[in-house]
Amino acid sequence: MTAATNPLDRPAALHAGDHVLNVRAVRKHFPIKDGVLQRVAGHVRAVDGVSFDVPRGSTVGLVGESGCGKSTLGRVIAGLLDPTDGGVFFGMPAAERARLDALLQVPPEARSEAQAAELGDIDQQFRIDRLDKHRRRHYRRNCQVVFQDAFASLNPRQLVRDIVGRPLKAFGEASGSALTERVVELLEQVGLGRQHLYRYPHQFSGGQRQRISIARALALDPEFMVLDEPTSSLDVSVQAQILNLLHELQRERGLTYLFISHDLNVVRHMSDEVVVMYLGRIAESARSTAIFETPRHPYTEALLAANPDETDREPIRLSGSVPDPARPPQGCRFHTRCPVATPRCGWEVDDLVRIAGESEGALDGLKGVERRDPFDAKLVFDTSRQATATARSMQRDRLPDALAQAVRRVERLDDTVAVSLQSVDEPPLVEVAPGHRTNCVLHHDEL
Ligand SMILES: Nc1ncnc2c1ncn2[C@@H]1O[C@H](COP(=O)(O)OP(=O)(O)O)[C@@H](O)[C@H]1O
Ligand code: SF4
Ligand SMILES: [Mg+2]
Repeated sequence: MTAATNPLDRPAALHAGDHVLNVRAVRKHFPIKDGVLQRVAGHVRAVDGVSFDVPRGSTVGLVGESGCGKSTLGRVIAGLLDPTDGGVFFGMPAAERARLDALLQVPPEARSEAQAAELGDIDQQFRIDRLDKHRRRHYRRNCQVVFQDAFASLNPRQLVRDIVGRPLKAFGEASGSALTERVVELLEQVGLGRQHLYRYPHQFSGGQRQRISIARALALDPEFMVLDEPTSSLDVSVQAQILNLLHELQRERGLTYLFISHDLNVVRHMSDEVVVMYLGRIAESARSTAIFETPRHPYTEALLAANPDETDREPIRLSGSVPDPARPPQGCRFHTRCPVATPRCGWEVDDLVRIAGESEGALDGLKGVERRDPFDAKLVFDTSRQATATARSMQRDRLPDALAQAVRRVERLDDTVAVSLQSVDEPPLVEVAPGHRTNCVLHHDEL
């Protein structure tokens, strides 16, 4: 057994306060280019201010519907994409972490020179996109990624020996027959063997290909792995085998996982902690048991209700799809789909227009919307009759209760309708019980 595979080399137990990774206020925005000149017309806010910790030896599950920003965040964490803002810190001792968090509390413009210098120092030592070459290389070998689509991530023209041996070669760890023997060891650890060395990826089943990806990820004996939907394209029975393998490897090697999935069932069986993401933000995060037993966000509840395992739960229907991340809803980003939304949840002009538009004749002849801000606008129509029809459809008794209570003014003047709604900030992510954070205002009220 090599030193790398000796389970005693690394404590698998969870250490209070010992984190492999700390994610702080990470944003990743992608520019949307438009026209011949490719001007930047806006930004897809794929990840929009996310902070959480990954304790050593644990699995943190990252869950949410497709398009919520999970893979983008996974790539930023793995160092494959640089964040637009914020940072990912690796291997930071507790004292430095406390110092970092205290410094981040101070707004950038209010920081003293000494504070800015101290922050720069911490960045250089621990922030993965600011590390010097030597430390960056250290991170690259210590953080490995397994993607959903093993077929796409394995070079079809390479033999398994070369695929799995490649990281060993790149890092100068082994060559020649020593490399072959290391690859055999790795293959055996993932349930394959010497007989698979000289085959190509297409000669394997989906599950076997994922085993090859895992063997390659293990080659440099990493501390931490980002598993991005590693079983999502596999049959259920094969899924279970791969999940068991990942469990086993974690136990033996003291590995830490960030496990990304849209499927709460899978996350439940894998995770010690769960981070629920919605539209680039964290909606809720807590120990896994708390997420499944006492969820404190309607989005989490909806995901649970959609889960066939949860038969005793009142079904909450999750209608519609995730809104456009280039223009996330105001207030609580989930308010457009939340079954229990309140008047304080961020209703805006767009909601009023969308819902009024469901009435016959409303919005006919709408020429334009002059916005003062998302909560205040003037709708301009071709004729005053059309403006009157729309204003009528926006009367309180014709709107859902929560929206009706958020409306401040609907006023027709000639061919325009002025509308304004209660202006609401985005609710913060608040700790409502030890280690349990939610951004739902209903649970903030309980405090
Ligand atoms: N390279 C990119 N350029 C522009 N938009 C992107 C890029 N990568 C992802 N996105 C967008 O970011 C959002 C989040 O995507 P992703 O992180 O893949 O979500 P998830 O993994 O939760 O399905 C989506 O709207 C997606 O279209
Ligand atoms: S704050 Fe809570 S109640 Fe309001 S829309 Fe968001 S999840 Fe629903
Ligand atoms: Mg994804």
